[in-house]
Amino acid sequence: MSTVSDDPLYRDPSLAQFYDAANRWGPDFDFCVKLAEGAQSALDLGCGTGELTAALAATRIVTGVDPAAAMLDIGRSRPGGDRVEWVEGDARIVRLGRKYDLVVLTGHAFQVFLTEEDQRSALATIAAHLSPAGRFVFDTRNPGFRGERDVRHSSVRQLEHAQLGTVEASDESHYDEATGILSYENVYRVRATGERFAGRSKILYTPRDKLSGMMRDAGLTVDVWYGDWEGSPFHVRSREIIPVGRLA
Ligand SMILES: C[S@@+](CC[C@H](N)C(=O)[O-])C[C@H]1O[C@@H](n2cnc3c(N)ncnc32)[C@H](O)[C@@H]1O
Repeated sequence: MSTVSDDPLYRDPSLAQFYDAANRWGPDFDFCVKLAEGAQSALDLGCGTGELTAALAATRIVTGVDPAAAMLDIGRSRPGGDRVEWVEGDARIVRLGRKYDLVVLTGHAFQVFLTEEDQRSALATIAAHLSPAGRFVFDTRNPGFRGERDVRHSSVRQLEHAQLGTVEASDESHYDEATGILSYENVYRVRATGERFAGRSKILYTPRDKLSGMMRDAGLTVDVWYGDWEGSPFHVRSREIIPVGRLA
């Protein structure tokens, strides 16, 4: 079982500090907020810096689980962070002894699980925490989508960091068709000082049909497969695979 210590992007505070500037609130979080309507409790697995977690906690009981203390520290200090129960834990094995009306894994957190065994463990954790009428949602990029995964060098993007000012972000990646693993490096350069921060990581791409079988084995049933966060139905070339479901 690999651990988060393999993943400097989240473990290392000097890299985690760029997460929010590089990943802004988007349609994925809008979707989850809407799905949470009526839910009295929510569990955010792989919650990271907790922007969604804190938003969900405005009107319900919310737990955020992530193994990266550097990410959780950012979550704790954000507005509304004091309403969240933050748990430093691993979504493959954590058992909170409670059930939730909604379980989410956003930001493609599902793709950090690099083996089928780890994926199955994460799905079992979702099932173990769903209330009888509870729902889950997560996203994983579709290997059938020929897009960014084939781009080896991204163009430089400009980010605005609250304390450091303008940051130039770029990445380089390599996709291994045989294993479905994308290896990538994120690079951040602070324009004012020239300081450079870089970290490597890996994510796994899984076809929808394989995922579907694993979910069935975990005791989960899918009500709808979406292909993007705008709510388009899934098709073989969709950018995303987004199952919304419940206990079977
Ligand atoms: C791309 S970030 C997504 C963060 C957040 N969900 C979002 O939407 O912004 C992936 C997160 O997964 C977390 N992670 C890595 N290994 C994990 C594990 N075994 N269990 C739970 N989370 C894990 C990382 O620490 C990181 O915070």
